[in-house]
Amino acid sequence: MDFRKETVRYCGHVQVLISSLLQPELLSYLFMEMKPFQLANNTPLSLSPNFILPVNKRPNLLKVLPSASIPIIDLNDHDIDDGQGPSPLVSKISQACEEYGLFHIINHGVPKELCQKTLSVVREQYLTKDHTKQVKVFNYYQKVQKYEGIEKVKMWSETFSHPWHHTEDFTHLLPTNPPQYREVFAEYARKIGGLFDRLLSLISRGLGLENDCLKRRIGERPRLNCQANYYPPCPDPELTIGLPEHNDLGSIAVLLQVEGVTGLQVIKDRKWLPVDPVPNAFVINLADQIQVLSNGKFQSVRHRAVTNKLLPRLSLGMFYNPNYDTVIGPIEDLIDEEHPPKYRKYSFKEYMEEFYRQEGKRRLPRLSLPMFYTPNNDTGIGPIEDLINEGHPPMYQKIQNNSYKELMDKLYRQQGARRRVEEAFELQHYECGLHLPCIGAFFF
Ligand code: OGA
Ligand code: NI
Repeated sequence: MDFRKETVRYCGHVQVLISSLLQPELLSYLFMEMKPFQLANNTPLSLSPNFILPVNKRPNLLKVLPSASIPIIDLNDHDIDDGQGPSPLVSKISQACEEYGLFHIINHGVPKELCQKTLSVVREQYLTKDHTKQVKVFNYYQKVQKYEGIEKVKMWSETFSHPWHHTEDFTHLLPTNPPQYREVFAEYARKIGGLFDRLLSLISRGLGLENDCLKRRIGERPRLNCQANYYPPCPDPELTIGLPEHNDLGSIAVLLQVEGVTGLQVIKDRKWLPVDPVPNAFVINLADQIQVLSNGKFQSVRHRAVTNKLLPRLSLGMFYNPNYDTVIGPIEDLIDEEHPPKYRKYSFKEYMEEFYRQEGKRRLPRLSLPMFYTPNNDTGIGPIEDLINEGHPPMYQKIQNNSYKELMDKLYRQQGARRRVEEAFELQHYECGLHLPCIGAFFF
């Protein structure tokens, strides 16, 4: 027996049990697990090979620190815009956005009872499995290399997703079961809409911008959708994952997680840290578009959700994404000689299309010289002769008869398969296909 491993497991169980006694509503989640969980397509969750990750993709939970000091920001903190630089609240948010790309907020103004009611209608929706047409249900998967070749490993979770809106009536797009779902969710969406306004304004100020700058840049008609994730207990959380590591693609997410059950983790300084639930708090995640708009000052957070042995976990993310037509690029006021643009401009549609095309590998479209200063289409390109000598033989072939255009066409045709294209865009690799139906999910 691995004594250390067993001790860590044992402590985990005690922690979960104590928190469930302190949080009576948690006990009701246990009843969901009286019988094995069935995905919406009637596949039971079991530790069968198609749920088991290859060794190099496993979460390695013993390497995750037992707890971490993720910033907790009190929105009631002193926040006076006296024109004398950022308020203490704005400074704290800005620091958290730079260092973590994620933080908790407390005293956010959304009533505790409303949050609990919302989680409970979401939980009931999982129980009834009565999904309306507009509600998409996913069981995400991750493509991994196994002995037999590339395989899809199913995630130990089920997710449903639908739109939300804070001012317009969107209730016809919501599940009809349980009967109070529509009313509760509409109220929650109104409150979360107000919270997004406040967060976007605080984050804009943290960048030294006008209050409404980020909101304007994300656009008039943002794409708003929510994602409810249900993670049943797993007999061996070391072998599976609830959601693989990923960055959210939009701008910001407001995540509500059931109290007392841990699962969300983030990477900081190359280590995974747990983001344990804080009572009456939301987790705020920054996503890719904020990183680009802020010209890399604020970071999009890399995160994942792991499973646990004892208790089911439920989380509800509210996402605020740009419209497909919105042009995203570093905000001009953040660019000067010392801070040249790190990313090029693109439409959100282009970003998503590239992401789908590259099966989730592509992340931020970094700026590179060819985007600024491009040779003429028929310029011959090759290493400059004066730089070539015995010690420095040519590393690249001269493209004498080919035009630069031909080279670019060739590179684009290969859709990033060649290294040169990756250099041109400075791609960062992204290993999973989250939020990516074509590679990432089974639709039911
Ligand atoms: C997501 C997500 C984390 C969680 O829905 O994108 O990362 O804790 N969820 O469920
Ligand atoms: Ni996410």
